[in-house]
Amino acid sequence: MLVSMKDMLNNAYHEHYAVGQFNINNLEWVATVLKTAKENRSPAILGVSGGTIKHMLGFKTIHAIVKNAMDYLDIDVPIALHLDHGQSYESCFAAINAGFSSVMFDGSHLPFEENLEITKRIVDYAHKRGVSVEAELGTIAGSEDGIVNSQVIYADPNQCLTMVKETNVDCLAAALGSTHGLYKGKAKLGFNEMQHISNLIKIPLVLHGGTGICDEDMLHAISFGTAKINVNTENMYTWCVAVGKLFAEQKDHDINDPRKVINHGLNPVAEKITERMKLFGSVNRY
Ligand code: 13P
Repeated sequence: MLVSMKDMLNNAYHEHYAVGQFNINNLEWVATVLKTAKENRSPAILGVSGGTIKHMLGFKTIHAIVKNAMDYLDIDVPIALHLDHGQSYESCFAAINAGFSSVMFDGSHLPFEENLEITKRIVDYAHKRGVSVEAELGTIAGSEDGIVNSQVIYADPNQCLTMVKETNVDCLAAALGSTHGLYKGKAKLGFNEMQHISNLIKIPLVLHGGTGICDEDMLHAISFGTAKINVNTENMYTWCVAVGKLFAEQKDHDINDPRKVINHGLNPVAEKITERMKLFGSVNRY
């Protein structure tokens, strides 16, 4: 079932678990996340970054692949197809028009009023079509698909409250110290601030930059109202390491089937995703 994030996140928020957003990169990645979700009876969010939109030939192609893969694999757990870090209302509208069930508008680099206005406009458009919306405040540091932020800026609690009240967004990515990509040290999350913001806004929080956050901190975040956790780099890295090893170990043998190579790298990715689903508490929910 391709569904919006609304019910799956509200359910997770009230039951104190989190749903994983696992970013996709190609057809095989889509199949891996879908099969892993089904095997674990877990909801899942397929995240689509700006780089993937280009790599997988646009919103319509991605939607068609996901929809048909779900039919083919007989997927009977809730799945959201979600635009990650949408940069404009045009890209959010295009994703919605192509059939995405969820979008994120990342206006965190804009002046607050502008972020608020555009988010509001996107929510109006999305909700009329049964599509969920994630907003962002503060700055998540690190790099993702060439978008680099060197500074962590904590989300302002009053702005978070205004954003939620005035736009009616479904969930909020309030930046509180997490970083996209591989961490150089241990991530330092602002748990006091997270608790404060969560108590104010009373809707699901989103934790970006799942790679490199220790299990204990993830569980802490979930206990403070985080109901969606985004994980990308660790899966990409896992795939690259597995395929690199395959070539290193088999250099005297023929490796001539790209399908086998791609799937070889995805076996440990499926294991990682399963580990995350178990940690987040999303298994056996459906
Ligand atoms: P990581 O790549 O650090 O896991 O972050 C993923 C993310 O937040 C996608 O929006």
